[in-house]
Amino acid sequence: MTPPIYQCALITGASSGLGAEFARQLAPISEELILVARRSELLDSLAAEIKKVTPHIKIHCLKSDLVDDDQRRQFIEAIHLMGLDPDLLVNNAGIGDYGDFVSADWQKTEMMIRLNMEVLTHITHALLPGMINKDGGGIINVSSLASILPIPDFAVYAATKAYVTSFSEALRIEMIEHGIKVLALCPGPVHTGFGQVAQRGEPTNVTPGGESVYVDAEQVVEEAVASIQMGKPRHYPGKKIALMAALMSSLPVWLLRKMMSRRPRRRAS
Ligand SMILES: NC(=O)c1ccc[n+]([C@@H]2O[C@H](COP(=O)([O-])OP(=O)(O)OC[C@H]3O[C@@H](n4cnc5c(N)ncnc54)[C@H](OP(=O)(O)O)[C@@H]3O)[C@@H](O)[C@H]2O)c1
Repeated sequence: MTPPIYQCALITGASSGLGAEFARQLAPISEELILVARRSELLDSLAAEIKKVTPHIKIHCLKSDLVDDDQRRQFIEAIHLMGLDPDLLVNNAGIGDYGDFVSADWQKTEMMIRLNMEVLTHITHALLPGMINKDGGGIINVSSLASILPIPDFAVYAATKAYVTSFSEALRIEMIEHGIKVLALCPGPVHTGFGQVAQRGEPTNVTPGGESVYVDAEQVVEEAVASIQMGKPRHYPGKKIALMAALMSSLPVWLLRKMMSRRPRRRAS
């Protein structure tokens, strides 16, 4: 049996996609997991699945709509009341919205802004003092390849992820003296529940580059777990995505603008 690396790993948005995969892969190297999302029945069945493979692990499933201020505060209080003190935080919960900005539903846009930025920032702020007291820990902020690109029809999502990457890079520097590692994880497209939540009505378009640029959730999480242990500041999982990110980051802004304005538009239905 692999000895545990983390005493307690907290994963937001663990009910599906990358979050559920983080739970599966962190279980063998953690003593305790805290899983949070709104769909508690999915968290419970994930916990049962993990327990079959890793019987020693303690799993706490907490139902919370993290966008709701009261529920988020209660969630943070519950962690403290249970005496839990995570040394690994995976800020994974996030949603997207495909389509032009002007026709976006404001409630969905607001929810995306709050979940992708405010929730991630608040939970990090609430848990960091515990990590600092322990003299170590790790934070994986799930950002996106979109964080380095201004993307038409994905404008607000890309902007929220630009925040996540920038915040993670700065926080990483502040945390060096406390021995806390901070990773901005920047995946390209991955098959999860993300696309279904992001689309407006019927699916309307495909990702430029098609299936060949997709990376499996398993691989994304494997690379993330390795990267946080190595203390990497930022990681783009998958060789093609890493190459695309290196190319995009080296382009002058005028050329990037030209490329993005020629990108096929994803029209809402
Ligand atoms: N899939 C991709 O192509 C891709 C690419 C780059 C980055 N990402 C990022 O990866 C992260 C995970 O997304 P995913 O691809 O795994 O999509 P997903 O399968 O849709 O998972 C999203 C998770 O967020 C949770 N969530 C959503 N709203 C919530 C709320 N109000 N309160 C609590 N939890 C909430 C969902 O749980 P409940 O619905 O049960 O609450 C779910 O567990 C996101 O930050 C996303 O931006 C995804």
